[in-house]
Amino acid sequence: MRKVNGSFLIAATVASGVLWAATIELRRPLPKHLATTEPSDRAALILPLQVDAAAFRQLQQELTADRIDVRMQPTNTNEAEKPLAVLVDASQIVRLIVPLDPAGGTIPAAVTNAARQWAAGRDAFVTHCGHCHGDDGLETTYANIKTMKAISTRLTDQKILDGAAEFGAVEVSSWSPQQRADLLLFIRGL
Ligand code: HEC
Repeated sequence: MRKVNGSFLIAATVASGVLWAATIELRRPLPKHLATTEPSDRAALILPLQVDAAAFRQLQQELTADRIDVRMQPTNTNEAEKPLAVLVDASQIVRLIVPLDPAGGTIPAAVTNAARQWAAGRDAFVTHCGHCHGDDGLETTYANIKTMKAISTRLTDQKILDGAAEFGAVEVSSWSPQQRADLLLFIRGL
């Protein structure tokens, strides 16, 4: 997994250089200037410098239980771009992007909720899907199984849930709407 990401990073950097490095894209490695050098087995929510420091510290405490670190870094390179809240998983792949109000200030509930939902979806995926699909959805050794990378670009949410019941015998129809929504939010970032 790490090796695949590593070689992708090198290939992408060689192919498009500086332009690529500045762009934050879903399912791509976090641009180098935003990555942390400290190895971590936790996901991280990166908030732009525009957010209020007290709100930042509060969220940092709140997301500890979800095993998400929170840090502040400049996520827009110029003022014309919207600042972004960016969630990366433990292998520094971008899994969620929420554009923010350029004025900054308090952290919108949408960001906190999305981070929490993602964490709940991640835990549900690891518990119910991970042993066949791999915790990152990339496992392909099981008979007929395909990678789940970018699966939401080729399957609807309903088809994804149907697949869980049909092939994995996981009856997600008995889950609460919230649990299904959490799982789908996580899977959409794969
Ligand atoms: C017991 C192992 C197992 C578990 C657990 C499992 N799956 Fe699967 N899943 C498979 C296999 C094997 C396939 C491929 C089946 C085929 O195409 O013949 C598959 C295929 C799928 C597909 C179709 C994928 C595609 O590329 O078209 C989806 C969607 C899917 N699974 C979702 C899930 C979700 C979501 C979960 C957890 C809630 C889950 N599965 C749990 C084994 C499993």
